[in-house]
Amino acid sequence: MNRSMLVAVVAVSALTSQMAMANPDLAKAKNCMACHAVSTKLVGPAFKDVAAKYAGQKDAEGKLVAKVMKGGSGTWGAIPMPANPQVSEAEAHTLVKWVLSQK
Ligand code: HEC
Repeated sequence: MNRSMLVAVVAVSALTSQMAMANPDLAKAKNCMACHAVSTKLVGPAFKDVAAKYAGQKDAEGKLVAKVMKGGSGTWGAIPMPANPQVSEAEAHTLVKWVLSQK
């Protein structure tokens, strides 16, 4: 195998290992699904209800990324969402985009 082939193989395997972590799996791995489900309210709101609430709001993603990372309460009720320090900002963006795409 020559060097450029090797580089290509490494690049492809890096890509597939990232894709293996699909968004629902990331949400499970980050413990979101302990309190949330896509279509039913658990401790927190159903993700499809979140998507419906923020549909068409341009600043929703940034706002929700901050909320996921820092936690907060009062939007859906008195129960607070705790901060999620296990989630990086990039992961929070991935998760919020996925949440906002639920219907
Ligand atoms: C311990 C339970 C718990 C965990 C774990 C949790 N949440 Fe929440 N989440 C809540 C509650 C409760 C609310 C409602 C907060 C409110 O009323 O402002 C909420 C609200 C939200 C909202 C809507 C926020 C808003 O202002 O409308 C999003 C988006 C969200 N969670 C995403 C996530 C993601 C992504 C994760 C995983 C990183 C996660 N949550 C983990 C309990 C949790």
